[in-house]
Amino acid sequence: MVAHHTARYTVAFKNVTVDPDGVDFSMSDTPKTSPVEKFKEASQFLRGEIPEELVDENAFFGKGSIQLLKHHGSYQQDNRDERKAARADGRGKAYSMMLRTKIPGGKFTALQLLAELDLCDEVGNTTLRVTTRQALQLHGILKTDLRKTIQRINEVQSSTLGACGDVNRNVMCCPAPFNGDPVRAEMQKMADDLAEHFAPHTRAYHQLWLTDEATEEKQLVGGTADPFEVEPIYGAVYLPRKFKIGIALPSDNCVDVYSQDLGLLAVCESEKISGYNLLVGGGFGVTPTAKKTFPALAKPLCYVKPDEVLEVATAIVEVQRDFGNRADRKVARLKYLIHAWGIDKFKAKVEEYVGRSLAAPQPLEVTGFDDHLGWHEQGDGKWFYGLNVENGRIKDEETFRLKSALREICSSVCSVVRFTSHQNILFIDLNQNQKNQLDDILARHGVPQTESISTVRRWSMACPAMPTCGLAVTESERVLPGMMDQLEAGLAELGLADEIFTTRMTGCPNGCARPYNSDIGLVGKTLGKYTILLAGRREGDRLNRIYKDLVPAEEVVPTLLPLFAYFKEARQEGESFGDFCEREGFEKLQSHTAS
Ligand code: HEM
Ligand code: SF4
Repeated sequence: MVAHHTARYTVAFKNVTVDPDGVDFSMSDTPKTSPVEKFKEASQFLRGEIPEELVDENAFFGKGSIQLLKHHGSYQQDNRDERKAARADGRGKAYSMMLRTKIPGGKFTALQLLAELDLCDEVGNTTLRVTTRQALQLHGILKTDLRKTIQRINEVQSSTLGACGDVNRNVMCCPAPFNGDPVRAEMQKMADDLAEHFAPHTRAYHQLWLTDEATEEKQLVGGTADPFEVEPIYGAVYLPRKFKIGIALPSDNCVDVYSQDLGLLAVCESEKISGYNLLVGGGFGVTPTAKKTFPALAKPLCYVKPDEVLEVATAIVEVQRDFGNRADRKVARLKYLIHAWGIDKFKAKVEEYVGRSLAAPQPLEVTGFDDHLGWHEQGDGKWFYGLNVENGRIKDEETFRLKSALREICSSVCSVVRFTSHQNILFIDLNQNQKNQLDDILARHGVPQTESISTVRRWSMACPAMPTCGLAVTESERVLPGMMDQLEAGLAELGLADEIFTTRMTGCPNGCARPYNSDIGLVGKTLGKYTILLAGRREGDRLNRIYKDLVPAEEVVPTLLPLFAYFKEARQEGESFGDFCEREGFEKLQSHTAS
């Protein structure tokens, strides 16, 4: 049982103030809070006006509900390809809802996946998306279908609660089922424990979506003097901003542990986890108009034994809850609190909440990042196969029929799947004789197997951006495959087809596909133009930097290829592209590639 900090509510509304240049992070007691805070506070634990708006005649939800619905796993969106038509025919906008399912550690059953595939056809836009955080997203759900959709997801024992919003989001964990070594199973168990521990307790989710309409319970979920009776960790106003957790091994940082608010890096001794280094304050969201915002890698905070993780993680979440910025959402993530205080002050505060001092982190370095694709022995006599899903999009399109292939695989061959943080699927627990069956189904549906996909494409990813994301300033998922075609050809010509490096693209600077620590980051800056960032690396432990800004889409690959030509000529043995860019420095890169 985790003891909760008792002083929590007395400090719950302190704000960290930030001046326009981001220099002064001094504390103030000004009770000024952002509008989202007010919506949450008045919402009776995330209920608000949602029940009334669910049944009104509008195709959309109001401002307050939009914010609250995120905590239930849904974003209101509109089809941006249809904006003109919708304005012209009087709809205003073609509204629909995105719905994200929270899937700790990416563990899903075939039945659960079949349910999502059914839903994407019945109520969605006929596609399903594996996300960069091991979750699934449905797009294009009409408001009138939202309740039914959430019910169906819950009927197969899965949930959308807390998939978005100001709470702990999907807990990420290495999904590879190497069962010969108990370490990964221990990590997955920890992911489940953390997910359960930090799940919102509000009954609003159940009442809004799962209660039988005929016998609907009308009672309010709140009404108690102590909000912590309802939400023992979060209280009435939840966290200042989203909170992300990921668990990794030093030899396999496949969940990008440095990008998390709270990262757990396992310390292993003879096939057992002796403890974890806790890393804090990672986060990639940037607002270009606000100089005070920046991407940050998580920093080592302390070392804890496995049985201390929940207690110390709770204290970290509580410190962010009590001292994170509730006035300005742009600087509300944990990384800004740590930037303002410094890691030592933050550690001292966490120690105060835990009630004892915490051990120094162990000297650990990340040495690898595996995408787990292709065929692998699990170590228990079974096999798993990692299938590359380009940008996570599951669809049937002309001769490429991944969606149908998945239906057949899930109905006949495979009963358990896992999702990876690179938007891919692992089919797990397969017998030797099922291997051919799986290969055959993929081939019959025109789905290229991982082995025939180029290395550059396999290691790339893009966020959804257009047409669903309201924040996109330009394309991402829809243009990256074309850039990959060009890059593939150019790299093959240079003899670099087998070179492993990560390319990550987003349609705006928010960073949903983690573009800020990859070898190459392509970040949408304005319509049709991208910022090119270089010198991160696959291991995920170094931020990349701006190499060139406002590069038109058609010039992205022509800008990159000369760099690869130079890389081929001047790299040191075994050096990765990101490390090469870092060592050479951008000035040298620029002078060598100027035509
Ligand atoms: C800071 C501001 C951010 C905002 C306002 C934001 C908002 C959004 C929105 C609206 C979507 C839905 C797009 C769609 O499905 O059409 C989305 C997707 C997503 N976001 Fe963010 N996001 C932010 C930052 C981040 C960061 C830093 C990460 C992780 C590093 C992240 C992880 C995700 C993931 C995993 C998805 C699903 C993308 C996929 O399908 O692969 N977000 N975000
Ligand atoms: S990075 Fe920007 S465009 Fe892409 S999904 Fe996130 S918010 Fe949307």
